[in-house]
Amino acid sequence: MTEGSRVVVSGPRNHFPFDPAEDAVLFIAGGIGITPLLPMIACADERGVDWQLVYLGRSRTGMAYTDALAKYGDRVRIRPDDEYGISDVAALIRDTDPGTEVYTCGPESLLCAVESVCAAPETRRSLKLERFVPKVIDTDGPDREFEVEFAQSGVTAIVPADRSILQVAEDVGVDIISSCSEGTCGTCETPVLDGTPEHRDSVLTTEEQESGTTIMPCVSRCRSARLVLDV
Ligand code: FES
Repeated sequence: MTEGSRVVVSGPRNHFPFDPAEDAVLFIAGGIGITPLLPMIACADERGVDWQLVYLGRSRTGMAYTDALAKYGDRVRIRPDDEYGISDVAALIRDTDPGTEVYTCGPESLLCAVESVCAAPETRRSLKLERFVPKVIDTDGPDREFEVEFAQSGVTAIVPADRSILQVAEDVGVDIISSCSEGTCGTCETPVLDGTPEHRDSVLTTEEQESGTTIMPCVSRCRSARLVLDV
């Protein structure tokens, strides 16, 4: 890049939008994870959504924005561990109607617990969450190489077991905009035209991953022998 080079600039991306498909929403905040939920709560309240917030933390004195939340009355439950003990996340979710949508942000242990409860058949709920660190991914065996076709670019290449799709794209001159390279920001999201993605990102919801329509090529791989991307 030199002085005078042209750069492409886009607006901010938001992979944690508040757009509830259901009439009831349960917000679960852990510590400073309350921050992205605050504007969602204001929006839900304005729209007349039937919402509840459970705000978890170690102690009340370390929990931000409790004053700002006071105006919402009993829609908000503030549950510091040193007053209430460790909260039972499964029970919180089980107590909601099955159609309730869950939004959560907080430490990884909380996010994993909420994910697990919302994925269980008896407590299945639609879930949206935001991670700041990559989640731990269980892989079934060592990585394998596969073929990737970058359809718009007219380039086909092999992705070796020890390289990412994004790295291979860079090698062969295919431009995929990226940022974190660890599957958390969503910048590199690329449409899939064919093949079965093996998702390893921390951005897409379970439903989005199951649809197989996009992939984060910085971390995700392919279950089939060939993957065709719309780039
Ligand atoms: S570059 Fe951030 S998710 Fe791929």
